[in-house]
Amino acid sequence: MKIGILGLGTVGGGVVKILLDSIGRNPILSGIKIVRIGVRDIGKVRLVSLTGNQLTTQLGEIVNDPEIDLIVEVMGGLEPARSLILQAINNGKHIVTANKSLIAAHGLEILALARDKKVCVAFEAAVGGGIPVIQCLQKSLGANRIHKITGIVNGTTNYILSQMAHKGVSYDKALADATAQGYAEADPTADVDGIDAAEKLSVLTLVGLDSWVSSKKISRLGIRSISEKDITYAKAMNCTIKLLANAHLRESDNLQLDVQPYLVENAHPLASINDAFNAIFIEGEPIGQVMLYGQGAGEGATASAVVSDIINIASSTATWQNANAEPDQAKSISQEINSNFYIRILTEQKATAAGAIAWSFGDFQVAPRAIQQQIIDEGLLEIVIVTELVLKTKLDGAINSIRGLPYVKEIANVIPILKA
Ligand code: NAP
Ligand code: HSE
Repeated sequence: MKIGILGLGTVGGGVVKILLDSIGRNPILSGIKIVRIGVRDIGKVRLVSLTGNQLTTQLGEIVNDPEIDLIVEVMGGLEPARSLILQAINNGKHIVTANKSLIAAHGLEILALARDKKVCVAFEAAVGGGIPVIQCLQKSLGANRIHKITGIVNGTTNYILSQMAHKGVSYDKALADATAQGYAEADPTADVDGIDAAEKLSVLTLVGLDSWVSSKKISRLGIRSISEKDITYAKAMNCTIKLLANAHLRESDNLQLDVQPYLVENAHPLASINDAFNAIFIEGEPIGQVMLYGQGAGEGATASAVVSDIINIASSTATWQNANAEPDQAKSISQEINSNFYIRILTEQKATAAGAIAWSFGDFQVAPRAIQQQIIDEGLLEIVIVTELVLKTKLDGAINSIRGLPYVKEIANVIPILKA
């Protein structure tokens, strides 16, 4: 099989290294030949040794080259990646991509064209780095009705939260470290604001729940609002704060999707996933619970997933319809969560503050399970409330009412709790 690669950065470099050093790996790899590699800057120093005129800035030539059977897209971004992939498919070439943004935005268009042209589009590396979650959902768990996927799918935010919780590192330093280690996106806003996790959730929902939801429709909240205080309270409650991506098929026609920080009870397997590791907790019938765990980002892990797609296509274990080109688009999307919540409120130092807040919750049928308060500064009181199970919309009503109380200075955080 002859391949062309679009991009030779972190992931592309890792893919080339594996393909040029195939001994001891799957024997199929010795039959894979890299014909051309497209880059933006041909003069850049590269850490992989290439021959002759393998490098080019003319990416169109690669997707139009009749000698090439399969295109590996590891350049990132929406354009020109989308147009190049569509052109390659039109030319009858298989596609392997690591580009979650592209699949989350244009997956339907790409898969539909691939179906028409009877070529494979594989995107194992789009979610969970080296974790084989896509193939697992498509094939290994194919006998199951999947109804819930809960994932730590962004390595950068998990690294930041782990560093803050376990090493007392500041948010800014942890983000700088994650960037230096190659985990973060070119614009880390995509990581810390939950955009990357929402895109991955869109891909997981497509593969695991056979439903198409654009990531733009997924309710998301990132980790910027998580303070050292929240982490300290979480520890005291035997919880760990994690950015989770959730897809829950509640009824056959209703999907609850959200990306946001959760206080995860330490007895839950997801609570122990640290640093840039990812884990995806899958619940299905009849299998029950399965958790996949591994390196969620970085050169080696991501290249491993890309190359596994190449192997599957080269060995014909992938059929052309390896992802449904016609997933369900009709399900109603719900942002509603039914959960216990942790709420941290700052008020003026008033003896009646906690009582009045509890009263306001009562007005909205929100039952506090526990309330604690402490003076954190002169004249400033911090009140932390854990609620009984409540619908988020109901809680929002109570929070809005509490925000209006004269001595309430700030609703510092409202975080759902994931029970073990
Ligand atoms: P990267 O290091 O920035 O590399 C991008 C490569 O694409 C570079 O070689 C660049 O060329 C080339 N490129 C970009 N735009 C181009 C254009 N318009 N024309 C020609 N060449 C272009 O990115 P990466 O980290 O490898 O990520 C690649 C993809 O994998 C992205 O979709 C990313 O989301 C996904 N991914 C990455 C990771 C990870 O851990 N890094 C994990 C999972 C998925 P130059 O070298 O000349 O600049
Ligand atoms: N920025 C992404 C992350 C890279 O931190 O998970 C892997 O997709």
